[in-house]
Amino acid sequence: MSFLEYKELIEDGDTAIVFLGHDYMFPVTIQHGSQTQTKYGVIRHSTDLIGKPYGSKVTCSKGGWVHILYPTPELWTVNLPHRTQILYSTDISMITMMLELKPGSVVCESGTGSGSLSHAIIRTVAPTGHLYTVEFHQQRAEKAMEEFRQHKVDHLVTVKNQDVCKNGFGVSHIADAVFLDIPSPWEAIGHAKDALKIEGGRICSFSPCIEQVQRTCLALEEHGFTEINTLEILLRIYDVRTVTMQIPDFGKATEDEGSSESGDTAKQIPASQPSSAMFKSGISPKESVGHTGYLTFATKSLF
Ligand SMILES: C[S@@+](CC[C@H](N)C(=O)[O-])C[C@H]1O[C@@H](n2cnc3c(N)ncnc32)[C@H](O)[C@@H]1O
Repeated sequence: MSFLEYKELIEDGDTAIVFLGHDYMFPVTIQHGSQTQTKYGVIRHSTDLIGKPYGSKVTCSKGGWVHILYPTPELWTVNLPHRTQILYSTDISMITMMLELKPGSVVCESGTGSGSLSHAIIRTVAPTGHLYTVEFHQQRAEKAMEEFRQHKVDHLVTVKNQDVCKNGFGVSHIADAVFLDIPSPWEAIGHAKDALKIEGGRICSFSPCIEQVQRTCLALEEHGFTEINTLEILLRIYDVRTVTMQIPDFGKATEDEGSSESGDTAKQIPASQPSSAMFKSGISPKESVGHTGYLTFATKSLF
C-alpha cells in the first residue's frame, strides 16, 4: 500500500487502520499468521483480513465487529505512535492553504517530530514535489524515515539529522515554502530565507507561546520578510440534536380584545395549547478544543 493512492484489497505488509468508532481506532501492520486483539475479540490476519476489500466489516472472535480502513494522512495523524507533540488536521489544513502547497511544490520542514505534518505535506506535493525535513533527534529522524519507507512515500522526502538552527536545511534557493515547528524558530529564519527560492516563497512558524511569536516576528522583519501575520484556529463543532423548548405561558389571551365592554363575551384561546415543542437544532459544544498554537505566516518577496 502507499499513502499516495488507494487500492482495493488488503495485502500482507500493509499498514491498515482498525476502526471501532470515531474516537477508537488504531493502526496495524498486516502480517500472515499474526493476530490483533480488540475488545470484541481476536482478528486473524490470514483468514479475516488478507484478500478482503478495504472498508470491510470484519467480525471478531467474540462476535463484535470492526471496519478495516485504508490509511490516509488524516487517519495517520489520529493514529500514529506519538514521539512528540504533533500537529492535527485543523492546523495542517490552514498551513497547507496559507503556504500555497500543491503538487510539485518543494517544501523545507523542521522538526520532523512524529511525522504528522510531513505525511500531509508529502501527499499534497506528490507526485513531482519534494519535502526536505530536518530533525536533530537521531532516533526520531530514523523512525520517520522507516515510516516513510513503509508507507511508500520515501522517494518524495529527504530526512536530515541535524540542527536546523546551526546547519539549516542542507539546500539553497529551491524551496517554495518553509515550515518551522521548533522551540526557537527565530534562530532558523536566516536558514529558511536561504532555503527559499531567490524569487520568493512563503514561510510558516508554529509556536504555542506568544513570546516565541514576538521573537519570530522580529527575526522575520529583520530578514526582510513581508506580509507577517499571526493567527490561531479554534475549532467549534456543532452537533445536530432534537431539543425541547418550553413555550412560555403568557396567560389567557383574548381575540378581538376591546370589541366588548366586558371581557366575558370574548372568545378564549383553548387551554389545551402544548407547553413545550420539540425540534432539531445545531447545538454548540459546552467545551471546545482550545489553543494549540499560533501560526505565523510571512512572504519572502523579490523586492
Ligand atoms: C513538536 S515536534 C514537531 C512535530 C511535527 N510538526 C509533527 O506534526 O509531528 C518538534 C521537533 O523538533 C525537533 N527540534 C527541535 N529543535 C530542533 C532543531 N534546532 N533542529 C532540528 N530539529 C529540532 C525536536 O526534536 C522535535 O522532534
